[in-house]
Amino acid sequence: MSSNLDPIGVFDSGVGGITAVKEIHELMPGENIVYFGDTGRVPYGSKSSDIILKYANQDISFLKSLGVKMIIAACGTVSSVIDIKTQNKELPFIGVVDPTCIAAIKSTKNKKIGVIGTQTTIKSNSYIRCIGSIDKEIQVYQKSCPIFAPLIENGVSNLPYEIVYGIVKENLSYFNQYDIDVLILGCTHYPIIENVISEVMGPKVKLINSGKEVAKYAEFILKNKNLASSMKHGGKYDFFVSDSAQTFSEIANRFLGYNIVKNVKKINIDLY
Ligand code: DGL
Repeated sequence: MSSNLDPIGVFDSGVGGITAVKEIHELMPGENIVYFGDTGRVPYGSKSSDIILKYANQDISFLKSLGVKMIIAACGTVSSVIDIKTQNKELPFIGVVDPTCIAAIKSTKNKKIGVIGTQTTIKSNSYIRCIGSIDKEIQVYQKSCPIFAPLIENGVSNLPYEIVYGIVKENLSYFNQYDIDVLILGCTHYPIIENVISEVMGPKVKLINSGKEVAKYAEFILKNKNLASSMKHGGKYDFFVSDSAQTFSEIANRFLGYNIVKNVKKINIDLY
């Protein structure tokens, strides 16, 4: 039986899932969180579904070994290939695709939505299928941006802004031909460069942050299942990675603040 003080387990291939952690921290500061970033095997987005599922199952086993009350696949790639319903049987398990699509559908006025994500996410058509199952009239244009996650993972803020801007502009020029009014950041890494994406796309395009949307959805599920923490603040955070913690810590500290990311522990994910 889970208790409301058990931690929420959050995982991603690397630092991307901290965009969900940031939102959980803001929405539910009393929740304890354990985070696993598979930094030894990132990126997931260029790998086949079979490999991603094998990695995801190990990530999930590790989090379960820590007694979590809920698991969030804070990774667009895992969320696109895993069977959420099957995972959901044992304990609440959520991914980013459904809540992100619902937010995008609510936001579009002209029914033209863009999606960016990893190669595997885009190939899976997960966002197109989800949006189509809710509103068939919406046109969805999608583009993989395979360079974004590795760029972010390697510490994008050490690069001059104009270089990052140039890379983002080139990757997003595909959308110039379509009059989209909403762009889904379908990979949880992307909100880390949201300011650049926003500048490239301009003020008429609303960006939907998958980390933020999955955090809101998590709050809804926890309340619904009477699993929300009884503490109002003071949640504890534990971060685990599968390779050197240094770059992860730097990025996470910058994004979340040192009061949250106190220390990051390395584990051997092959044991799970
Ligand atoms: N953050 C991930 C996602 O949301 C994966 C990026 C990667 O490892 O390629 O898709």
